[in-house]
Amino acid sequence: MKLINPFKPTAGMIPPVLIGRKTALDDFVDGIDEGPGSPSRLMRITGPRGSGKTVLLTELGEIARKRGWLVIDTTSDENIQDSIVRQLVKQPSFPVTSVKASVPFLSAEATFNQPLAEDDFRETLERSVQDLTDKNKGLLITLDEAQNVNREQMRRIASCVQLLIRKRQNIAFAFAGITTGVLDLLNDDSLTFLRRAKSEELRSIPLDEVSGALRATIERSGLEIEDAALDYATKATAGYAYLTQLVGYHVWRAGRQHAESSPRITLQDAEQGVRQARQDFDNAVLETALAGLSKPAIDYLLAMTAAKGASPTREIAERMGKPAADANTYRRILISRQIIEATAPGYVAFSIPFMRDYLVNNRHAILARYGVDESQGL
Ligand SMILES: Nc1ncnc2c1ncn2[C@@H]1O[C@H](COP(=O)(O)OP(=O)(O)OP(=O)(O)O)[C@@H](O)[C@H]1O
Ligand SMILES: [Mg+2]
Repeated sequence: MKLINPFKPTAGMIPPVLIGRKTALDDFVDGIDEGPGSPSRLMRITGPRGSGKTVLLTELGEIARKRGWLVIDTTSDENIQDSIVRQLVKQPSFPVTSVKASVPFLSAEATFNQPLAEDDFRETLERSVQDLTDKNKGLLITLDEAQNVNREQMRRIASCVQLLIRKRQNIAFAFAGITTGVLDLLNDDSLTFLRRAKSEELRSIPLDEVSGALRATIERSGLEIEDAALDYATKATAGYAYLTQLVGYHVWRAGRQHAESSPRITLQDAEQGVRQARQDFDNAVLETALAGLSKPAIDYLLAMTAAKGASPTREIAERMGKPAADANTYRRILISRQIIEATAPGYVAFSIPFMRDYLVNNRHAILARYGVDESQGL
């Protein structure tokens, strides 16, 4: 049997076992089956980077597709309305005549270069969803990276979705993004309707589920794992989705090296794999986030490490020896780069798991890049 590494440590890739999402998926299945008005037809997925938001959106799409629904995936870095209309029109089942009659720009060689009028968008969406509902199908729209969405576009989508639900049409809308960015979005007065969305906050996955999934994945691939090795690998994931794949991937690789003589992954393999996984994580996630930051922005992050949880911004400014207004400039830059987030007025916390540990452990080397000798302090 050819041994192929089953783990998928890549953003957006469906993992071999989807861990800890049973309730969310069951809720969504109910939402589709229960009909218009079911709360789970509106879903908000939030969590830090690498917590599995994109994968969960994809799985919701699979569920909808299996029930004959049309699924349109969008992300906030495109014009969402254009993208939805373009994907609707592409469908072979698109109700051409009725929509074309009312949306003149769709006829002939319509180009989508000019911005779409709000009415045209509404009309196209309504007709398509009406047509799908008549055929006992429906439409799921997913939106990824929702924290960066253009408010006006979100408002338009939300108002169309709201109207279609009120007309008892088969429409579902699932949006995913970084927690505080999405909560911030929902504070917008024109988006109150979306506050009703069922919330799935992707917190850490219970370790017993991680352990079961690691073992099942490894055994299905043709290797085995010692209990102590499994325990060690499981703890190293901290229940964080991306790390479950990275740890699984490297631990499996360490075990494969001796698969000819023994297919059993040992504690030593697990230790080696975890070391590599953490190194990959540091390089791919943590270092990438820090790359290109100015010295004061780094100082801001280092000042935050004094607190284990959320840091008061006032204390950060004090520690940096800067006026609050200056510190605030760096706070804003770091929030926009999604390295930190405001957890409450006057408080910030790291948005990326393990960032604090990394800064504490590598403080010296990081400051040295800016020509600072650690002995001189901040
Ligand atoms: N439920 C899960 N069980 C196991 N692994 C998962 C799960 N969800 C996601 N993963 C894995 O975690 C990694 C990150 O997943 P994903 O890209 O969906 O995260 P994300 O929250 O969208 O991240 P980002 O904020 O960077 O977009 C991928 O390697 C994926 O295979
Ligand atoms: Mg994602």
